[in-house]
Amino acid sequence: MENLNIHIRPFEQNEAIPYELLLLADPSKKMVDEYINDSLIYLAINENVITGVYALLPLNNHVAEIKNIAVHNVHQGKGIGKLLLESAIQVAKEKGFESLLIGTANSSVTQLYLYQKCGFEIVEIRKNFFLDNYNEPIFENGIQCKHMIVLIKNL
Ligand code: ACO
Ligand code: ACO
Repeated sequence: MENLNIHIRPFEQNEAIPYELLLLADPSKKMVDEYINDSLIYLAINENVITGVYALLPLNNHVAEIKNIAVHNVHQGKGIGKLLLESAIQVAKEKGFESLLIGTANSSVTQLYLYQKCGFEIVEIRKNFFLDNYNEPIFENGIQCKHMIVLIKNL
């Protein structure tokens, strides 16, 4: 990975929640606030600067969900997202979860590529999820974000 020396560590209680990054993955602060305080948060650090984040929410004793995963714009496409995803899989395994869920939009072409490449399988489509839960229309890759595609990885 050129010029980057990334390590991933847990968020510490005295730190500020990295909303700038979280809002890249989930543009509604209201939605973020519904899960962030109950989530395990991990940060990707490059030379003392936070470059990425993920938030892992336990849904029950068996299943956890990656509610949010994001890399700073200037560092996207350099492999940090993949490192974060691999870390989330490892942490969920260590915490004893049996499966890991992640949801993304019909328009999130790169994300669908990355998640499937890391072993997640599509199990469900939540029709109109983004139309029903977000006030503003969202577009990505020239495609309107309407439905949530849910993927699961068995750990
Ligand atoms: N087109 C095709 N492939 C791409 C692209 C692209 N534009 N960008 C990355 N890739 C490929 C990479 O080549 C790599 O594949 P490889 O291992 O075969 O080479 C793979 O995707 C992973 O790329 P990374 O560089 O690890 O991805 P990145 O660091 O950019 O992180 C992420 C991915 C988290 C989606 C980041 O782009 C991001 O923060 N996007 C905005 C926020 C977002 O959409 N988050 C996810 C929302 S869903 C949720 O949070 C549950
Ligand atoms: N990544 C991202 N976008 C791409 C890529 C790529 N690798 N390739 C093309 N695109 C985009 C183009 O930029 C264009 O978007 P734009 O209008 O926003 O610029 C759009 O996709 C259409 O591109 P075309 O050049 O018109 O597509 P192409 O002539 O390659 O035809 C097709 C697409 C039919 C899928 C062709 O690639 C193909 O024959 N693939 C192999 C056979 C196949 O998979 N067929 C479909 C199987 S499903 C079925 O048959 C029902």
